[in-house]
Amino acid sequence: MKLILLGAPGAGKGTQAAVISRELGIPAISTGNILRAAIQEGTPTGMKAKTYMDEGHLVPDEVIIGIIKERLAEPDCAKGFILDGVPRTIAQAEALEAAGIKFDHVVSLEIADATIMERMSGRRVCSKCGASYHIVAVPPKAVCGGELVTRKDDKPETVKNRLAVYHRETEPLKDFYRERGVLYPVEDMGPVEATSKAILAILRQDG
Ligand code: AP5
Repeated sequence: MKLILLGAPGAGKGTQAAVISRELGIPAISTGNILRAAIQEGTPTGMKAKTYMDEGHLVPDEVIIGIIKERLAEPDCAKGFILDGVPRTIAQAEALEAAGIKFDHVVSLEIADATIMERMSGRRVCSKCGASYHIVAVPPKAVCGGELVTRKDDKPETVKNRLAVYHRETEPLKDFYRERGVLYPVEDMGPVEATSKAILAILRQDG
């Protein structure tokens, strides 16, 4: 099973990727989490990505393509994987295709921008494992003992910018994957469990 979770910033990709990963026993790979870990470790890739991320811009394609190819070559990806937050541009999608990766499903989480603005203000993430919570809708659990923090790019002005970047750069991927017959839009259902159920029904129905 090779799956992409597509959606605006804050659409719930990370939240749903964690559920599907548990249910299907395949890894969830978030380029955002990989980049944040690189920033924390102070690696050259992290240093390069930081300014783009803090301002809500996309990190250059060549950096992302390098990161994702390296990650997908690891043994835990042999039976399948869930991509969260990548590809995000047509160039990234073409690079994955050129590497011979064929996706079974591209689930596009559909949600209004206004709902996203509300959700982002209540998001808290674990500084250690990257798990995402919401102070009201998804109460934080101390799973790995990491500190809960507000992400730097969750400031309202930066979220607005990230949404604009999504509509301009990432939304065209829906047509890209629709043309390949693998796009499955899923409307946001409110509770996390209802959206997970809708996604899993699509994945199981299609085998
Ligand atoms: P990244 O970390 O990928 O962020 P994002 O795509 O902007 O998405 P988020 O992590 O903000 O949101 P999400 O959809 O995972 O939602 P979540 O589940 O947390 O990227 C960050 C930056 O890195 C980018 O801006 C870019 O600079 C760079 N980058 C990363 N990948 C890149 C790439 N491929 N190319 C170029 N640059 C790249 O949920 C959001 C909130 O809502 C949480 O509080 C959650 O608890 C809550 N919530 C979730 N579901 C529900 C629900 N059903 N009901 C109520 N609350 C809910």
